[in-house]
Amino acid sequence: MRALVVGPGAEGRFAEVPEPVPGPGQALVEVRQASVNFSDLRHMGRLPEGTVLGYDAAGVVLRAAEDGTGPREGARVAAFGAGAWAERAAFDTGSIAVVPDGVDLVRAAALPMAGLTALRSLRAAGPAPGSRVLVTGASGAVGRLAVQLAQRAGAHVIASVSRPERAARLAAGLGAAADVVAGRDGVEPVDVAVGRDGVERVDVMVGLDGVEPVDVVIETVGGPALVAAWALLRPGGNLQSVGWACGQPAVFPPNSTFSLGPARSLNSFGDVTAPADDLAHLLALVAAGEVSVEIGLNGSWEDLDAAKTAQLGGSLTGKIVLAVGRTP
Ligand SMILES: NC(=O)c1ccc[n+]([C@@H]2O[C@H](COP(=O)([O-])OP(=O)(O)OC[C@H]3O[C@@H](n4cnc5c(N)ncnc54)[C@H](OP(=O)(O)O)[C@@H]3O)[C@@H](O)[C@H]2O)c1
Repeated sequence: MRALVVGPGAEGRFAEVPEPVPGPGQALVEVRQASVNFSDLRHMGRLPEGTVLGYDAAGVVLRAAEDGTGPREGARVAAFGAGAWAERAAFDTGSIAVVPDGVDLVRAAALPMAGLTALRSLRAAGPAPGSRVLVTGASGAVGRLAVQLAQRAGAHVIASVSRPERAARLAAGLGAAADVVAGRDGVEPVDVAVGRDGVERVDVMVGLDGVEPVDVVIETVGGPALVAAWALLRPGGNLQSVGWACGQPAVFPPNSTFSLGPARSLNSFGDVTAPADDLAHLLALVAAGEVSVEIGLNGSWEDLDAAKTAQLGGSLTGKIVLAVGRTP
């Protein structure tokens, strides 16, 4: 069968690969739509050459799991698991959810990694009702969903984006239910004291100037945004370090990581265990119109290079979802 794999030079390329052989607790899925995540494109070089790419898929079950778990043959499903960018893939039934009527496979494929990350990082941060939640990188796939889920849970949400034009688009798309803040170009150099008498020029996130302290941060940008978000965290607050989209280092000003009173905490996030129930929950929210998924580009998987250029060039907001194989 055909699949997109890591090629020489860490480029995605098509290859003929062996048919997947499902284990007893795995269903064989014909992949119809597959979505592109930040790490698929940016971190491809970390995977061995020949690895089948992708994590997010939606399609139809060709063969149900031998152990009787999971969806039946013919069911429309969304799935999360390594090796999704292939004509067929074997997924653990604990990572598959049936797609409800009314949700197309394009939106279903856009949900797994971004939606699960948004949902679970908010859950890990603690109860939301009444709390102030800052989401950085809010125009991104994880951020946009985190904004909506936090609002739905009763939080006051501050959505941070680096580009003003994205702020307007985000506010319009979400019905202006959150405070959307934007930096001029996102970051600005300032001098901070380092060591005994040194001064170092570091980038700080100017978009967060004037934001009142928050109880929770869902932080997807890293670097200066992480430093600025940490500075806004109330005593007792929690920051979920979900991603590092900006690729820049974070330079914390001296003394900024300790304070009197209840401890502030920073957690790494990477919970990918058995997501089926949470995936089903997210799909139900989309079916009910309570959460929206923005699709920036829906093309063919033959157009991966164009999709890559659009995403890495920063010209696109919304998920990239690619039709796999022969799509009706
Ligand atoms: N821990 C996990 O399990 C997990 C799961 C999923 C994703 N992640 C990570 O979370 C981060 C966000 O993922 P995503 O899917 O939401 O990505 P995405 O859709 O590409 O969004 C990233 C957002 O970050 C902002 N950003 C700021 N500086 C940037 C820069 N220099 N380059 C690119 N974007 C920049 C952009 O918004 P503005 O330009 O408007 O600021 C963009 O909308 C990534 O680092 C990803 O690897 C982690």
